[in-house]
Amino acid sequence: MKIALISDIHGNLEALEAVFAHIDEQGDVEEVICLGDVVGYGPNPEECADLLSLRCKTTLLGNHDHALLNAPLGFNRIAAGSIEYTRRIMEPGLLPDGRKQERWDWLKSLPERHMLGKDLLVHASPRDNIFEYILSDDAHYAKEKIFSIMAMIARNVYVGHTHRPGIITEEPRFYTPEEIGMSYEFEPDEKLIINVSSVGQPRDRDPRSCYATVTDDGVTFHRVAYDVEAVIAKFEANENLDSRSGERLREGR
Ligand SMILES: [Fe+2]
Repeated sequence: MKIALISDIHGNLEALEAVFAHIDEQGDVEEVICLGDVVGYGPNPEECADLLSLRCKTTLLGNHDHALLNAPLGFNRIAAGSIEYTRRIMEPGLLPDGRKQERWDWLKSLPERHMLGKDLLVHASPRDNIFEYILSDDAHYAKEKIFSIMAMIARNVYVGHTHRPGIITEEPRFYTPEEIGMSYEFEPDEKLIINVSSVGQPRDRDPRSCYATVTDDGVTFHRVAYDVEAVIAKFEANENLDSRSGERLREGR
């Protein structure tokens, strides 16, 4: 069974549509799971929520989704401003609006974790499902942190949150998708931390959307080009959005 894992959409509809088209072209993906951060930064949080609720078997709660439903604590000014704007357009008001209410209820229903056989799926980390960053550098500078995370999982854990793709092995060592030729074949009894990166705001200096497909045998990373300039134009046309969040998409940072 082949499953697509997408994450960190951040209201980028052009990127999300391109990734779904890429998934559909493969013809053998049986389900799509989203690891969270539907909203935040981008111009189309409502449209992304609608598409994800329609197409994904499961969507998990990310830290930006959590901030929208609660408060953007610990967020920088740009991220917090984006959450406040997103709340103004998405939160149901006093006038009845069925679709807005449905979308809000769907966001409130998102779980923090999901099991796929023995594999754990979370937005951020097994220790703190929504907020903790597992960084590539942790494989070098924070080995105890990685050992503690590995001790909590039965097999692989799939995460997003950092917007940077890659695999951390039990040694621990970190590999980018390029270093493993975009695919990795699982060894028996091995545990891995696998970051599927981001559809809507990759930060590894490659502006193309990133996601992963998983089978019993291994994981494959995919990069998908989309119309970045169309999204940047939406940022420029909307005074409520921060244009720097648009410009970073061009460089993938
Ligand atoms: Fe994110």
